[in-house]
Amino acid sequence: MWDPTTYLRYGDERSRPFHDLVARIPARQPRTVVDLGCGPGRLTATLAERWPGSRVVGLDSSPEMIGRAVELGAPVEFGVGDVRDWRPGPEADVVVTNAVLQWVPGHQELLRRWARQLPTGAWLAAQVPGNFDAPSHRALRAVAAGRAWRDELLPLLREAPVDDPADYAALLTGAGCAVDAWETTYVHLLPAPADAAHPVLSWMEGTALRPVRAALAAGRWADFRAELQVRLAEAYPVRDGQVYFPFRRVFVVARTGARAEENL
Ligand SMILES: C[S@@+](CC[C@H](N)C(=O)[O-])C[C@H]1O[C@@H](n2cnc3c(N)ncnc32)[C@H](O)[C@@H]1O
Repeated sequence: MWDPTTYLRYGDERSRPFHDLVARIPARQPRTVVDLGCGPGRLTATLAERWPGSRVVGLDSSPEMIGRAVELGAPVEFGVGDVRDWRPGPEADVVVTNAVLQWVPGHQELLRRWARQLPTGAWLAAQVPGNFDAPSHRALRAVAAGRAWRDELLPLLREAPVDDPADYAALLTGAGCAVDAWETTYVHLLPAPADAAHPVLSWMEGTALRPVRAALAAGRWADFRAELQVRLAEAYPVRDGQVYFPFRRVFVVARTGARAEENL
């Protein structure tokens, strides 16, 4: 289950890649803009501000997230649904999916299908975290591999659920798109008050630790959390009252049918 409040703890840091992604979509008057895996909806609302004449749709599989999104009262049609079941309509001129596809095994096939089904000239923009080899995730896998946890937890943890920018570029070029792909490592400066949990642990509780927390009873979760916190404090020491948290992200923006047009 997704908890919108925990997810929004580092809202500013989490929203920056969304804005960097959308900045690379030069569409002027898209008929329909779709945000797949829209979460608590704040970022979807900015799409309605950017394209005020467009129909804006936000879809997410979590009723808790959609419940929070609807409360915003933004001019967006929010609905509960799985991105795997979504089919592009003939007016879907912009599709954004930010920090979602890492949760969707086989999402490469979805991207290929969307690129084929979207109208010609549509924009398909995706961002996924590329930090699965970062110290934070290595620490998570190392603790989960301990004898106390491994039977329950190792099956839940994925080694490398996303690809590199060049792989997404090749995939979407092969689907007939003109492609812009890149990666960025943000260095988030997370405040580390002495009386609070390590900030990287707090960050991970909003995302990567959700399946672990759901799998463990309360007491075992507290033990796991304490063990992980020790490793995270070693990997990300507190300096100047804060933690320097590098976070790699992978971006791709594709324009459907554009490659075929370029070749004419
Ligand atoms: C890390 S949050 C990102 C939310 C939002 N896009 C943002 O950038 O703030 C991931 C979201 O993906 C949603 N999600 C995960 N798998 C999904 C699926 N198969 N279909 C629809 N939504 C999904 C989750 O419910 C969650 O709200």
